[in-house]
Amino acid sequence: MSIPKDILADDITNTGRNETLIGNLIAASMISDAIKTSFGPCGFEKMYIDIMGESTITKDGGTFLRKIDVEHPSAKVVIDGANSVDKNVGDGTKSSVILVGSLAKNAIELIKSGISPHVIVNGYQHAAELSLEILNEISETRNLEKGVFFDLVRTALSSKSMPFLVDNSENLSRIIVDAVCCVCDFKTNYIEVDDIKIEEKLGSASDTNLVRGVIIDKTIDNGLMPRRISNAKIILLNEELDTVRTKTESEIIITSPDQMSSFLEAEQTEVMRKVKNIAESGVNVVFSRKGISDVAQTYFARNGIISLRRVKENDLFWLEKATGAKMCQTIEKISPNEIGSANQVYEKEIGDDKMVFVEGCKKPKAVTILIRANSKKYLDEFHRTILDGIYVLRDFIQNPKIVGGGGAFEAVVANRIRKVMMSVDGKEQLAIEKFADSLEQIPLTLATNAGMNYLSTLSALRSKISSSNNGRCKWYGIDTNQRKITETFSKKILEPKILKEQVIKTVNDVISILLEIDDIFMKTPAMFTHTHADGTTHTHKGGSLEHEHHNEKLDRLGKEQRGSHHYY
Ligand SMILES: Nc1ncnc2c1ncn2[C@@H]1O[C@H](COP(=O)(O)OP(=O)(O)O)[C@@H](O)[C@H]1O
Ligand SMILES: [Mg+2]
Repeated sequence: MSIPKDILADDITNTGRNETLIGNLIAASMISDAIKTSFGPCGFEKMYIDIMGESTITKDGGTFLRKIDVEHPSAKVVIDGANSVDKNVGDGTKSSVILVGSLAKNAIELIKSGISPHVIVNGYQHAAELSLEILNEISETRNLEKGVFFDLVRTALSSKSMPFLVDNSENLSRIIVDAVCCVCDFKTNYIEVDDIKIEEKLGSASDTNLVRGVIIDKTIDNGLMPRRISNAKIILLNEELDTVRTKTESEIIITSPDQMSSFLEAEQTEVMRKVKNIAESGVNVVFSRKGISDVAQTYFARNGIISLRRVKENDLFWLEKATGAKMCQTIEKISPNEIGSANQVYEKEIGDDKMVFVEGCKKPKAVTILIRANSKKYLDEFHRTILDGIYVLRDFIQNPKIVGGGGAFEAVVANRIRKVMMSVDGKEQLAIEKFADSLEQIPLTLATNAGMNYLSTLSALRSKISSSNNGRCKWYGIDTNQRKITETFSKKILEPKILKEQVIKTVNDVISILLEIDDIFMKTPAMFTHTHADGTTHTHKGGSLEHEHHNEKLDRLGKEQRGSHHYY
């Protein structure tokens, strides 16, 4: 029932209690319906076209949800929840949305049969706690080894079906595993995702590769310099090697042409002194954040030194980590431990551009994955795919426990919840059962997307899991390639425990919020924001039409009002 209109201010609308709760739950389930079809290895892509006509093709739940602009406040809550999962664990967005959607649908049924939302929240909460306990019990610990890394990445990538993955998924998984192993600190089990540089260039996807060093999207400064240097000794500069205009307002009074030339000469000599210092220190590759003059470049070239000027700050950070160089404090006194090393520094043509490779670094703490695809759109999606793989490994390295994928984890937990729910007294029990039903939506959505029959999969999955529960946990789930129920552990379809933990926690938070909002009071949206010719911007009803701000010529303070006008 909504509050009578004359009690509220003109511009506030009130939805009413019953409508709000059910409306919120329906909105959540609609978002879930929209995303369901792209879940899992057999899911479809989504195309999004923005206001500029720019299109994005993606299967990544996080990206799609960030792109679509939803207006309904509770749909926003669902999307924020999914985004927080994406931010924390880098995957599992679609699973979260599907679970929230299904919990919402089931909650509507429970409300219609007369159960209070509070009881449902308690029941769901209880079931979520049970799921986390079961997760702790059944997840299996593994050593931090390349074999498990590889299986985890391959599972994460198998739900991406971009054309570049068709033949390359094994190769790509290996690249991601190698990259992570290079930059990970296995003593502290810590990995900084940003230490893996991802460089994109148009081309053929099969040319995607890992460089144990840094690729810089620039060319060598001067045509006279060597194109390749072996056993590179590298220096990183943050000082100008050029005669530059001073930034401060200083005035130099010159009264004769002689003075002018001697001033310029002095400047040149200063630059040359620095350049000679660098050459004498034994380095043969110079990366600078600032400029390098033509004269300095020529001097470097004559001495067989490669230089790159105006290198981005981030590239210098990566170079520090990969080559072991430290940013040079002062060129006057170059310390040997500021000099980094690499096996090769060379320029190579990639696509239509040239890039500089700093390769073969000893124990690099930063590496580069050079991704190639034949269009910008695919490059973007490729980039996201690689990040997903890296995040999954980061999750596992932080907490080396795994569960069976393909919906096996969810199916096993649903089975166990049903066993213990009988001991719960009261209507909460019904909500707990619905939580178990919702978990089963994960394997069932995978199955229906793969073209399997919903009901027969449901019954077969339940019977297989309950008959296997004596002793060790059997991870029965969906193998979408074979379109059948299978033991997913033996098929090496694995997922990190942390991912599942995050999904359950977030889903529980989101559904509780949705069930606890019982009314919406909404101010009329400020949609008539407009700017006047004098630059003032403001908002009011009818702002989109020709209008007058006030009927009186003077306002309350006696100031003159604007006449009638159009908005801009
Ligand atoms: N080969 C496979 N067979 C069956 N299911 C798989 C396979 N590979 C991955 N999955 C499942 O796909 C789901 C992930 O799908 P995805 O579209 O990436 O959604 P999310 O955004 O939730 O990560 C997980 O439940 C995972 O276990
Ligand atoms: Mg995924």
